[in-house]
Amino acid sequence: MGQLDNKTALITGATSGIGLATARRFVDEGAHVFITGRRQSELDSAVAALGENVTGIRGDVTDLDDLDRVFAAVTARGQGLDVLYVNAGGGAFATLEELTPEDFDATFGVNVRGTVFTVQKALPVLADGASVIIAGSAAASKGNPAFGVYAATKAALRSFTRTWAAELAGRKIRVNVVAAGATNTPGLAGLAPDPSQAEGLLAMLAGTVPLGRLGHPDEVANAVLFLASDQASFVTGTELFADGGQAQL
Ligand SMILES: NC(=O)c1ccc[n+]([C@@H]2O[C@H](COP(=O)([O-])OP(=O)(O)OC[C@H]3O[C@@H](n4cnc5c(N)ncnc54)[C@H](OP(=O)(O)O)[C@@H]3O)[C@@H](O)[C@H]2O)c1
Repeated sequence: MGQLDNKTALITGATSGIGLATARRFVDEGAHVFITGRRQSELDSAVAALGENVTGIRGDVTDLDDLDRVFAAVTARGQGLDVLYVNAGGGAFATLEELTPEDFDATFGVNVRGTVFTVQKALPVLADGASVIIAGSAAASKGNPAFGVYAATKAALRSFTRTWAAELAGRKIRVNVVAAGATNTPGLAGLAPDPSQAEGLLAMLAGTVPLGRLGHPDEVANAVLFLASDQASFVTGTELFADGGQAQL
């Protein structure tokens, strides 16, 4: 028996990194999983790698028409949505002095606006008793130089999670955050100003984790699976850190 047998899940941004690892875990646990991403080629590769019980839908979470298409596809399957993992997101380094309005709008656009309207548009298709998981970050609880805008987007999501958990409690829908620490993904490596500096950046970040290493995407997927499953049936409005102690110690 899988922990997600007969469940339908949607994971935004699931062609890479943590989202892809979570999609694999959900499929292994018996779910039918819808995955999204902007690049068609990456989406096709992910669907091929995940095998059966996966539907790929190309879409950008900052584009409301794309979100409508994603939820139309979920609705068309006719099974509702039991698990929504709002994972698409990212950031870039810029100090307050360097920050441009374009940087600010881009990061808030994907992480905050994208998440808000993903959850809003999911409301009609979410099953009563569904689990919504929001991708937060340990960075939201830290004061890392040059990561302020990203951290603020994830702090905003932590706040929205409390509100949405309260608003949706009447439908027995649980809403929680998984706050990952530095996790070895293409997205993390992509924070380096150029690819030759990626290895040094990842080593530097690993040194900031009390457990002394980067997280593996599967380790974050495990935390997401817990919140998605019935094991977390009395857990809502909370933030689960999978961060090797990065924001704790
Ligand atoms: N890695 C870490 O250390 C870490 C730590 C804490 C939190 N997080 C959070 O975890 C989430 C996943 O991070 P990751 O490191 O796994 O990233 P990643 O390897 O860069 O993967 C990001 C995924 O999201 C998709 N995506 C990006 N922008 C999108 C958009 N506008 N619309 C739809 N899909 C989009 C990407 O595909 P396309 O580019 O094709 O769209 C890709 O599938 C993010 O929210 C991130 O902030 C990561």
